Amino acid sequence: MSKQNLNLDNFWIPFTANRTFKEDPRLLVGAKGMYYESEDGREILDGISGLWCCNPGHCHPHIVEAVQNQIASMDYATAFNMAHPKAFQLAEKIASITPKGLDKVFFGNSGSEAVDTAMKIALAYHTSRGEGQRTKFISREKGYHGVNFGGVSVGGLPLNRKAFGPLLPGIDHLPHTWNLEEMAFSKGQPEWGAHLADELNNILTLQDPNNVAAVILEPVIGSGGVIVPPKGYLEKIRKICDDHGILLIFDEVITGFGRVGKAFASERFNVTPDIITMAKGLTAASIPMSAAVFKDEIHDQIVQGPDGVIELFHGYTYSGHPVAAAAGLAAIEVYENEGLFERTLEIEPIFQEKIHSLKGENQIIDIRNIGLMGAVHFGSNGKTATEMSSSVFKHCYENDVLVRFSGEFIVLSPALIVQEEEIDRIIETIREGIQANS
Ligand SMILES: Cc1ncc(COP(=O)(O)O)c(C=O)c1O
Repeated sequence: MSKQNLNLDNFWIPFTANRTFKEDPRLLVGAKGMYYESEDGREILDGISGLWCCNPGHCHPHIVEAVQNQIASMDYATAFNMAHPKAFQLAEKIASITPKGLDKVFFGNSGSEAVDTAMKIALAYHTSRGEGQRTKFISREKGYHGVNFGGVSVGGLPLNRKAFGPLLPGIDHLPHTWNLEEMAFSKGQPEWGAHLADELNNILTLQDPNNVAAVILEPVIGSGGVIVPPKGYLEKIRKICDDHGILLIFDEVITGFGRVGKAFASERFNVTPDIITMAKGLTAASIPMSAAVFKDEIHDQIVQGPDGVIELFHGYTYSGHPVAAAAGLAAIEVYENEGLFERTLEIEPIFQEKIHSLKGENQIIDIRNIGLMGAVHFGSNGKTATEMSSSVFKHCYENDVLVRFSGEFIVLSPALIVQEEEIDRIIETIREGIQANS
């Protein structure tokens, strides 16, 4: 069906300027490997793997087959008082690639649900230890933790918060670590900025550390602009949490499943949190699914008490959904069989060199990268940063390359199978877009 005879009235499109979009919609109708097919018959090079999520490329045959087989043999089984084998198999598989000691997996359907699950279980853990006064959370400016009330409350992007009332009480935000003067055009982890973690101590002095349940951070800030942690920063945060009995949650919805060249950013940075949230790459986005993975002692503390009594009143109709579980098992097999995490580490220097080759183009004030994620950040000079970024996005799309327009910056997160020529094409199309709009 072409867009001319498609009724666009009823779908309220998320995080999109609906009226503008509907005047000239961009529709995708097919996908394979690194490419989308657009409704007007073009092959579009996908520079963002969907939305940081189709990590092995689109429609990987192994994942497609697993999904097809599962939906034909059992579409659904409730997760309440019943179960099916694949949910256990996937949980075991996930536990085998998360850091040692994080072995207990709670399934949801979206990153937002994984975050709320992590926050609720952090509270339940402290309550069960007789420390029910630990109700506060500390997160970070520019952090994105999804759109449910827990995630928005700890989120640090003002526009995502301002229409939605008072949100959860008892939340403080650390300063973000991006500093143009000290770290512009850093490659990978900036040298400057570990001391910003000390701000956690200042907040704790004010809050009383005994009232704090958890610190929640994206190890690399994703939606807020690919802000890579300064060297030593996460280590300091871990230490301060340990000093005060505060849980550390890493939101790895973007950084999980190879995006930074290891199964998880925790492994890349060698800092182990108490809880990891994940989604996106878990099923390569083929079927919605998320998980929050907990240290064994958090689970064991809660899962006790009288036999036959439910230990935790939390869960989703689709927790561990069989089709999603089949997709997750197949996706992890693909990552392992094709060595995609290792490949990401190998191609990272090439991606880094090419994205930084844009330095010097008009209005670019910073470029940031790690693994296969990067941001090209514009300043306002002539055009506003957002106008420039939006014009570049449109130029790229019209020239068959999909990048992500996100306010003042363009984001790249290609699939882990991206070839050097494809990186070249993405970067050169961005360059042309800047030059055409300067
Ligand atoms: C770090 C992080 N947490 C949570 C979420 C929310 O995930 P979802 O959109 O699946 O609810 C996202 C989405 O991009 C994310 O990047």
